[in-house]
Amino acid sequence: MEPSEEAKSQRNGHPADVNGEMEAAWTNSAELRGAGVPLARFNFPKDSRRLGGDFTVEENARRLLRFFLFERNILRAMAGWIMGTPEFEVKVEFGRHINWHAEAGMKFRTRLSELRTAPETTDSFQSPEIAEFFSELMYSETPAHFVAALYGVVLPHLRQTYLEHAAHTDQVADAPTIRIIRQILPDYDEMIAWGKGAIEAYVQGGYSEAELHKWQYHIEKLLRSFGGATGSPSSDRGGEASATMRGVVLPRPDNLRSEGKPLFERSFIATRDPRFGTFEHTENYQKADNGAIEYQTEFDQVRLNLVRTQRDEIDAIETFANVLYEIREVPYGFDFDMARIVWDETRHTELGHKAMEALGYNPYDLLNRLLGIKVRTKLPALYALAEINLFGEANIVQECLRYSREAFEKGDDVTGRMFDFVNADERTHLAKGVHWLKHLFHTDSVQEIEQKTKQVAVDRLVELGVLGLDVKLTISHRELAKIIGE
Ligand SMILES: [Fe+2]
Ligand SMILES: [Fe+2]
Repeated sequence: MEPSEEAKSQRNGHPADVNGEMEAAWTNSAELRGAGVPLARFNFPKDSRRLGGDFTVEENARRLLRFFLFERNILRAMAGWIMGTPEFEVKVEFGRHINWHAEAGMKFRTRLSELRTAPETTDSFQSPEIAEFFSELMYSETPAHFVAALYGVVLPHLRQTYLEHAAHTDQVADAPTIRIIRQILPDYDEMIAWGKGAIEAYVQGGYSEAELHKWQYHIEKLLRSFGGATGSPSSDRGGEASATMRGVVLPRPDNLRSEGKPLFERSFIATRDPRFGTFEHTENYQKADNGAIEYQTEFDQVRLNLVRTQRDEIDAIETFANVLYEIREVPYGFDFDMARIVWDETRHTELGHKAMEALGYNPYDLLNRLLGIKVRTKLPALYALAEINLFGEANIVQECLRYSREAFEKGDDVTGRMFDFVNADERTHLAKGVHWLKHLFHTDSVQEIEQKTKQVAVDRLVELGVLGLDVKLTISHRELAKIIGE
């Protein structure tokens, strides 16, 4: 039997309109016009955005591509300076800010994909003047000069450029660009404020303020000689545009420090703050301490050892930063993932540092282990990444899990939870690392990458005299992970 019209209509989720009465009442129905006070009496907030902006889609994309390239170059510049920056607070802040810039870059890249610019085009975008500018920034004389130029010149310039872009683009048609700029700006405010304090600290600590200013002016001149981030100092239509937007073009400096020099080479020494005592002859904390620390229980020792490995992940910040600086010609997704791992390792270092304090130690009294970074610093970046990921991180995932269970049992919720989070982080590192290693080694076989890496890492340990030739052939995956783990 055929279902009735009413049943058919109900099955579709609509009330029956058997005789088409509702259809007929479509216009002139009170429900559609609203049943309360007539609309005209409401004074809703007005949308005051004006229609019309200064940029075409093409011009907007041209500018966003340059913004993207600035963000990408900034995060790589910081990555390239991390090894050579000894000051603990500065290293940590670089580790955090690298990720802020990576996120900003990804936002521009996503927006570009909506402005007729494919991610592949964005990823391979180059500009000789921007490349030269960042090469000059890299050749800063000291970390203090680098901080002064980056935080005191480049970031304020970008902040201003973004603000002006948001003010001058079409407020309705290009609202997604305005929204991402509004999301990026609070990070810029935070970074610029930190930079100001850091430059002051460098000056108070003995750096010449006049010298730092001189370098800042030099960098500013170079930046403005090619029109800065937009690269088009005079293409803006006057009107409300500010002086910076209309372009204060400064003459190009006569001499560049980077002139005729190759790509800046990052430090091969993991510089450390003089507040740290360090050791590199062993991986074993007890051996390094030489009995200086007494433990009430075995758990106390296990706990402090693991807390120390976290604080000493300063070398993991450095390893991932080196990898980020040295591996080029990769999709931006690589930079983005590595930058996030750098920030995570920064948090692990901070967690270790704070846990030491919570356990009643002065973090600077506990010797800092350098063996891992000493092995990795001279490995080709590809192998450094494979080593820390497939050996170090794979190992720490297990150790954290085992430890947090024990800590919870012993009633130490603070470090139990801390390592529970670290375990969660490290699992994501493992997944991201394996994904990119397969891409970089052009293989799907993790085993193959592991074998190659083990060989390279063991050779380096023999070269450093940490392993004897006899051990070289028999050392297990786990033993290697323990010696130069994360
Ligand atoms: Fe870590
Ligand atoms: Fe990690």
